[in-house]
Amino acid sequence: MPVKIGNIDLGEFPLLLAPMEDVSDPPFRFVCKQNGADLMYTEFISSEGLIRDAAKSRQKLDIFEYERPIGIQIFGSNIESMREATEIASQAGPDLIDINYGCPVKNVACKGAGASLLKDIDKMVKMTKAVVEATHLPVTVKTRLGWDDNSKNVYEVAERLQDVGIKALTIHGRTRSQMYKGQADWSLIREVKRNPRVAIPIFGNGDVDSVEKAANWRLEYETDGIMIGRAAIGYPWIFREIKHFFNTGELLPGPTITERVEVCLTHLAKSIAWKGEKTGIFEMRRHYSNYFKGTPNFKEYRMKLVSLEDVASIFEVLEEIKGNYNEAEILQ
Ligand SMILES: Cc1cc2nc3c(=O)[nH]c(=O)nc-3n(C[C@H](O)[C@H](O)[C@H](O)COP(=O)(O)O)c2cc1C
Repeated sequence: MPVKIGNIDLGEFPLLLAPMEDVSDPPFRFVCKQNGADLMYTEFISSEGLIRDAAKSRQKLDIFEYERPIGIQIFGSNIESMREATEIASQAGPDLIDINYGCPVKNVACKGAGASLLKDIDKMVKMTKAVVEATHLPVTVKTRLGWDDNSKNVYEVAERLQDVGIKALTIHGRTRSQMYKGQADWSLIREVKRNPRVAIPIFGNGDVDSVEKAANWRLEYETDGIMIGRAAIGYPWIFREIKHFFNTGELLPGPTITERVEVCLTHLAKSIAWKGEKTGIFEMRRHYSNYFKGTPNFKEYRMKLVSLEDVASIFEVLEEIKGNYNEAEILQ
């Protein structure tokens, strides 16, 4: 059965690219889409920033036709601001609006936004209702299991948010207190999914970093799809590898050195096209070592890639890398 968010058909068992601040921008989303991500999100965007017309927040609204379906994720602590931000975000033409009730970092969660709403479900419900009423688009939510070990309330959260009209829920299998530590626990996500009152798609998130895990957890936890974050950084191929396995039962070999270089070239070109040459080159620097993880004796190349300042020289180095490695040398 295909999974649907409102009228958006995501196919069977969709793979979602997680929203990630400073990572899931249009250049990175391009390479994830090329590799089969079924639904993607912008980085989270501050509702206050949008209303103030802060340039940084506005830039995060940039979306491109080839990215569809795509959601814009917003966060905030003030219901009226969230309503206004929803209107602004909707005008940018995404396929859906996502609300962040999961961010654990201090300057978000301690200012009454992100995961802190897990401590005040009545307010979370009111805020969600306001967002749903402020847009013609489907609204989805991303959250965690609860605030801490003693207050894992996502079961109730799922029911109440569904009742005010959200069309899908993604659950990261950690509490706010856990931040990113320990292991994600998907057992409560399965309970939410099994709740006969819950009819909207439930997506599981947290720690999926291999084809094996995706396949095992799909069976074990019964979610409607999986959202992948960190494992896609420097490895957008994870989407195609998981999809290939689901479609054929076979494991694809990892990317060749040529493919690694090609993805870097694409990511860099998109980065420059979107941010301009100087910033595009600069922001791409953090990605090289991820794309070439496991490549022996890469240090010298990395040093060059992160210090060169003109596109032509970077392209030259990347071309040289292509020619200088035997495929068998890459470790997985
Ligand atoms: C660098 C980074 C930035 C993140 N930014 C966001 C964000 O903007 N919005 C959000 O909902 N979650 C954010 N997250 C959380 C991820 O979406 C995801 O829930 C988390 O990384 C767990 O999934 P994973 O184990 O597949 O990475 C971020 C995570 C990382 C590592």
